[in-house]
Amino acid sequence: MEVLITADRIQARVEELATEIVCAYDGKPVTVVGILTGCLVFTADLIRRINLPLRVAFITASSYRGETVVPGRLEIRDELLPDITGRHILLLDDILDTGKTLTRVVAHLIDRGAASVKVGVLLRKIGRQEVPFEPDFVGFTIPDKFVVGYGLDFNDEYRHLPFVGVLLSGE
Ligand code: IMP
Ligand code: MG
Repeated sequence: MEVLITADRIQARVEELATEIVCAYDGKPVTVVGILTGCLVFTADLIRRINLPLRVAFITASSYRGETVVPGRLEIRDELLPDITGRHILLLDDILDTGKTLTRVVAHLIDRGAASVKVGVLLRKIGRQEVPFEPDFVGFTIPDKFVVGYGLDFNDEYRHLPFVGVLLSGE
């Protein structure tokens, strides 16, 4: 495993992002919606630094990525989501890759009656976006490498690592 972003750098950047978010919402109540499961660690660290009236909810978005018969399909499940009508949503995900997941989930939340949706991602991969999408808050831009840790997985492993790393072959 090659460490790409150390735990210390992540913590420092999350602190900065929290400050940006507090400024952007200017005292308005916010509903944080995390996209499971990758959002887990980022969401837990970030919300503890956001000094605003705040609710937390989760949504699931799974893309099949060619592993099943319908490649590229995305299934959104929102039965854990409370009524978000009229609420300002801060949508959080681990990584912006092609942009398809976030584009779809933002549309879904607007459809459910959200007053606004801003998006925060820990990572943004360079050169991978297939649909135009501009997140409001970005932790780090990274090269086009498959990364794990701090919520990101490979086959559901490695999410608990406190740093972001690149898997080397054979691991
Ligand atoms: P998008 O719809 O292509 O932007 O996909 C975003 C989702 O793909 C993320 O929420 C991750 O679950 C997954 N993903 C993309 N790149 C990586 C990576 O490098 N490591 C782990 N998961 C990734
Ligand atoms: Mg994910």
